[in-house]
Amino acid sequence: MKTALVTGANRGIGLELVRQLKAKGFELIAVCRDSSSELDAESMRVESGIDVTRREDLTELKRRLGDTQLDLLVNNAGLLRGSSLAGIEDELDDWRAQFEVNSLAPIRVTSALANNLASGAKVVVITSRMGSIADNTSGGQMAYRMSKAAVNAATVSLAHDLKERGIAVGLLHPGYVRTGMTGNTGHIDPHEAAAGLIARIEELNLETTGSFHHANGEALPW
Ligand SMILES: NC(=O)c1ccc[n+]([C@@H]2O[C@H](COP(=O)([O-])OP(=O)(O)OC[C@H]3O[C@@H](n4cnc5c(N)ncnc54)[C@H](OP(=O)(O)O)[C@@H]3O)[C@@H](O)[C@H]2O)c1
Repeated sequence: MKTALVTGANRGIGLELVRQLKAKGFELIAVCRDSSSELDAESMRVESGIDVTRREDLTELKRRLGDTQLDLLVNNAGLLRGSSLAGIEDELDDWRAQFEVNSLAPIRVTSALANNLASGAKVVVITSRMGSIADNTSGGQMAYRMSKAAVNAATVSLAHDLKERGIAVGLLHPGYVRTGMTGNTGHIDPHEAAAGLIARIEELNLETTGSFHHANGEALPW
């Protein structure tokens, strides 16, 4: 049986990802800060108490995993907070928090668990098309956009670095999804987003490693 680890698994897109990966036959490790009744109802392995921005929590996660081999790592945890040109000085903690969660944490989690990745494993970062510079036709949300552009840049390096181990790395945008992050506005529900993301994960291979795709299959510009 293949093993998948998903961060931010207690709600939103992460919760739906673990549900659907389980239905596909994966053994799950659902990582979160605090579990939820919905996640508890899934009867899967939950590793709670893990804040992806805290070094000691990442060390603890690695300790709990021991020599468990991962076939799939999905860096899904993310943060969206408002940011504006006029407000930057007052909002600076929020700008930095988005860098911590969206840019640094996916790389830190992958680094902490690098020795747990099986040969031929896949690593996915749930990014956003808002991190695309070419696709930015509306402005706003500077901090979130910067944080996702930064993780996109780092993840391309990750793809190069992990290729020699036979590990494919993908950047995936889930769509505009009705979750807590969007105040439950959006075009699609988490169920549809997760189904698209999993289809893209299934397609990901060493030839497409380092690519940036929408969950609907569209290749996204940088
Ligand atoms: N929804 C959209 O339209 C959309 C569009 C593009 C990209 N995305 C991306 O998709 C991913 C999932 O988003 P979502 O819509 O499902 O958002 P969500 O409902 O707000 O869920 C965010 C998840 O990230 C977790 N998280 C945040 N900070 C964390 C931290 N420091 N340590 C550990 N976990 C942390 C949250 O845990 P807590 O419950 O503990 O806060 C929660 O599980 C994110 O990377 C987001 O940027 C979403």
